[in-house]
Amino acid sequence: MAAQHTDWWKDAVVYQIYPRSFQDSNGDGIGDLNGITSRLDYIRGLGVDVIWLCPIYASPNDDNGYDISNYRAIHAELGTMADFERLLAEAHCRGLRILMDLVVNHTSDEHPWFQSSRKDPSGPYGDYYIWRPGRGEGPPNNWGSVFSGSAWEKDPGTGRFYLHLFSTKQPDLNWENPAVRREVFDIMGWWLDKGVDGFRMDVINLISKPEHMPDEPLAGEYGNGLLHCANGPKAHEYLREMNERVLSQYDCMTVGETPCVTVEDARLYAGFDRNELNMVFTFEHTGLADGPLGKWSLNKTPLPALKSVLSHWQTGLHGQAWNSLYWGNHDQPRAVSKFADDRPKYRALSAKMLATCLYFMQGTPYIYQGDELGMINAGFKKLEDYRDIETLNAHRELVGGGVVKHRLMMKYFARVSRDNARTPMQWDNTAHAGFTMGEPWIQAGGSYPQINAASQVEDENSVYQYYQRLLQFRREHGIVRDGSFELLLPEHPGLFAYQRRDPSGRLVVLCNFTAKRIRLPLGAFGEGRVALCNYGHGGGLKPCEALRPYEARALWEPTA
Ligand code: GLC
Ligand code: CA
Repeated sequence: MAAQHTDWWKDAVVYQIYPRSFQDSNGDGIGDLNGITSRLDYIRGLGVDVIWLCPIYASPNDDNGYDISNYRAIHAELGTMADFERLLAEAHCRGLRILMDLVVNHTSDEHPWFQSSRKDPSGPYGDYYIWRPGRGEGPPNNWGSVFSGSAWEKDPGTGRFYLHLFSTKQPDLNWENPAVRREVFDIMGWWLDKGVDGFRMDVINLISKPEHMPDEPLAGEYGNGLLHCANGPKAHEYLREMNERVLSQYDCMTVGETPCVTVEDARLYAGFDRNELNMVFTFEHTGLADGPLGKWSLNKTPLPALKSVLSHWQTGLHGQAWNSLYWGNHDQPRAVSKFADDRPKYRALSAKMLATCLYFMQGTPYIYQGDELGMINAGFKKLEDYRDIETLNAHRELVGGGVVKHRLMMKYFARVSRDNARTPMQWDNTAHAGFTMGEPWIQAGGSYPQINAASQVEDENSVYQYYQRLLQFRREHGIVRDGSFELLLPEHPGLFAYQRRDPSGRLVVLCNFTAKRIRLPLGAFGEGRVALCNYGHGGGLKPCEALRPYEARALWEPTA
């Protein structure tokens, strides 16, 4: 029988944890499950409802856990199954739910399925992956992997090639094979039966590969195969099957990570009447600073484009599908550094402004660990400090291949490498930011003496307490969940302004994305009282006619 479903995920606020970097409990320099358990009160105190754990399964760690070798085991460096069960129970008794990261577009090449598949093409696992004959000596087509190099790897034993859209150690599963789908659904049921509350699904819109895999126009050395694999022919069919077999049996929450989706695609994946997923992550707003080398660029995100993308998603999904709201995660640089201003004078204001701008929109907020403190890019200067496979491979390919000079590449990394968000959570101003008593697997960002939890939790002017107030306003005002959305002054180059409306009133959000004062057209924003302002809080604020640098203000005007 199908479970009773409530839309609790529409009211939820999600806190994302990157376990390796959150809290080390045993001094080996690697964050772990017991570390997370020890910080549950901190997380609960922020006012969130759900924790999304990046992968914690057994893994050779080629891509920090996104290469799984056993879906039913905990990575030994992170703890044991007993530790996980304790974390789950402790979270539940604080009213916190847990989302697991479901990585089933690919497995590790060390997964037993792949080991059998490569050895024995005609055996039961032979068809679990995407094998193709080469073209002569070369790969089946010109597709490049997201992590540099060809998307195909030759198996020395049989001479066949397997597809890996990510690293060579992340072979793509063949979802055409019903046995593969059954395995995945079993794994999901196994975790849901254990009591987890849902899944964040890694690159879930890449699971259906096209039958024909033609060459693509070259962008550098390779063609972009993602264009064929994203939203592939049977993506919706597979998700509906997953929903029918598994998700509909549980009152759980799902969010799909979906590169290359448009608003129209999102209505299909996350439409209220579609029986697929609850929501997806769009990449439209995170890709606006890309350049000729993709993400490796020093461009700033242009505000007019950001406004138009985010408001298009707001109005495009309203009443039909559900949004997820995020600035950053473990794959993105820090939000303050990317979208606003991380100079000491402005970074706390920027962090609060960004939260105001995004989390008063319609959708489920995702807060990436440390963003509630206003953490900024680590901006490492030396290649040796980087750990991320995408970063290191890009250096080898682009610098090694003579496309980019080392010094410029290091500037790109300081701006956009994924490691900027993977440095240790900044708990206090002691060694390694209080993350570990040992040597951390990746160095802490240099900002921890100034930016850390210990100095913020009790400080009413902190980013942390601002987040608390913001989330409290969300909980108390249904308009944030249900109200309509309208972008105001769409052409303004420095101001992001919008209003939400419902029968209870009108909420106006004004955000200055620049370091200059912005004069406001008098009277344009109604009579609302200031519910939240990043320059100070309390009742004494009068609306004034200019917004200060990076000022954010939310004006609440209840219906008389
Ligand atoms: C997703 C993950 C990213 C990972 C990739 C391959 O984009 O968020 O961290 O490297 O998928 O699994
Ligand atoms: Ca540890």
